[in-house]
Amino acid sequence: MEGAEIIQVANIRDQRGDLFVAEYPKELPFVVRRVYYICNVENSKTIRGFHAHKKLHQVMICLGGSCDIVLDDGSKREIVKLDNPGKALYLKPGLWREMQNFSVNSTLVVFASEEYDESDYIRDYDEFKRYREEMR
Ligand code: TYD
Repeated sequence: MEGAEIIQVANIRDQRGDLFVAEYPKELPFVVRRVYYICNVENSKTIRGFHAHKKLHQVMICLGGSCDIVLDDGSKREIVKLDNPGKALYLKPGLWREMQNFSVNSTLVVFASEEYDESDYIRDYDEFKRYREEMR
């Protein structure tokens, strides 16, 4: 989907294990200003997200376990499964996302291009649809 990209994180593997590295600008497309992570999702029916961003760029990686990211561009939906620490999902602004199907002990880490700003969020789906219409 336009605005979403899978990025392969570099893996330096040796007998001691895996070392993954994402560095700006090679694998990370922006300079990170904020990191947050979601873990201890105890109910497998939990769905998070339900929002889009106007300016924020994000990279999501499921460091352990797995989860699904539902993406919506206002006219179609796509599900991206994040299930290994080498697979990063880069989301540009303007996509509606829902995070679901968290496995037990999963950790979803999110790298963000900006500090937290509630005014950058679109949390109403109808408003998001109108926003996308206006973008065309
Ligand atoms: P919320 O947007 O509901 O999380 P999700 O995208 O997983 O559905 O965020 C939960 C709460 O945490 C909400 O009150 C906003 C707050 N929050 C911050 O204070 N800083 C942050 O960087 C983030 C991502 C959320």
